[in-house]
Amino acid sequence: MTTPGHGHTADSVRAYRAHLLYFRDDRQAEDEAVEWVEDGLLVVRGGHIEQVGDYARLVATLAPTVPIVDWRGKLIVPGFIDAHIHYPQTDIIASPAPGLLPWLEKYTFPTERRFENPEYAAEVAHFFLDELLRCGTTTALVYCTVHPESVEAFFAQSHARNLRMIAGKVMMDRNCPAFLRDTAESGARESEALLQRWHGTGRQMYALTPRFAPTSTPEQLGRCGELARQYQDVFIQSHVAENEDEVKWAAALFPDARSYLDIYDQYGLLRPRAVYGHCVWLDDTDWQRMHDTGAVAAHCPTSNLFLGSGLFDFAAAEKSDTAVALATDVGGGSSFSMFHTMNEAHKVARLSGYYLTARRMFWLATQGAARDLNLSGQIGTLAIGAEADFVVLDPSATPLLARRTSHSESLEELLFALAMLGDDRAVAATYAAGQQVHTRAR
Ligand code: GUN
Ligand code: ZN
Repeated sequence: MTTPGHGHTADSVRAYRAHLLYFRDDRQAEDEAVEWVEDGLLVVRGGHIEQVGDYARLVATLAPTVPIVDWRGKLIVPGFIDAHIHYPQTDIIASPAPGLLPWLEKYTFPTERRFENPEYAAEVAHFFLDELLRCGTTTALVYCTVHPESVEAFFAQSHARNLRMIAGKVMMDRNCPAFLRDTAESGARESEALLQRWHGTGRQMYALTPRFAPTSTPEQLGRCGELARQYQDVFIQSHVAENEDEVKWAAALFPDARSYLDIYDQYGLLRPRAVYGHCVWLDDTDWQRMHDTGAVAAHCPTSNLFLGSGLFDFAAAEKSDTAVALATDVGGGSSFSMFHTMNEAHKVARLSGYYLTARRMFWLATQGAARDLNLSGQIGTLAIGAEADFVVLDPSATPLLARRTSHSESLEELLFALAMLGDDRAVAATYAAGQQVHTRAR
């Protein structure tokens, strides 16, 4: 049965006609895994994908009452996954500073203080989620602040919209202003209470979030490691080896560690579902540990360029076969758009002698990230049975995009033009769990 005009009931069916692009998860290499359907149909029942394939083949199998939304000329792709972002930093995006540590002092810590107020937190969370959806991002790994209220506010909004989000309370018990400090004990206790309440509530998932080694005592990292062992399916997120001054600081604070990454290793914080932002200044031994432990590197190109942190080394990640995902790192990052992120990732790769194809970038932002987060088959794909999180991309969204894509000679050229020229204007609509959660105003 369908509910005409809505699609709000659990088993309502709706179909979408467009070009379809996604990646099969039984293939390692994105080039082999790409699935392109020129005239495709995506059939969604409730919150899941029921059928995907050629329009001509599938339309005959649909009940005549099933509404078909006509998105011909547009591309449907899986919703984007942003592997590292700070929702409390929405208001300080694009703030000038000569590097990471002064930027944290001058902008980040003062703005994060405001999240002790639940109303303010709710207002920012609302705007933040709107902005993600406007950019076609349907899943993100999100840092909240040290205040449990900031986590409550975020998950409450995400849950109300039925989005698949991963988030956690920042833990930091030293080297930060007193108004942002927890303790090893309170950080662990509050994190455990939040993860028990939110991990698996609807589509919400929890991430243990020690901010970075310099703002945690060894005791706090130890408590975090215990939680990581106890709750194997929750995520871990932190920062590592972002900036040379930060690397020196971490070395001075943990003189027994072989490297910055080794600090996390010593406390049991490298494992599958552990996602480390930046990874700019890792050495070969670190990369090997990232790989061997199943941890994931979140590459944050707009942030690394904006804060002058350094160039991510794709070749080193590839040599060690470490999992890599793309991330905005707003507010250190300068854009919510995964297109801008791809654009800068491509240029950073070029500067280090590496070449990222457009296919690879779309794979990294969808199926690749889903696989590396152990969410394969659930998100990041249009495959049958997956959660219906998808975006409708308009290759003619701007005069320049229209002009360039009108003579694309291959799928690679089309995707490359979107990655280089696209932004939120190229996102015609965003769907989460089968519901339309953003439509671009004309
Ligand atoms: N390192 C520790 N905290 C932060 C943060 O908020 N942003 C970035 N980019 N790096 C960090
Ligand atoms: Zn960050």
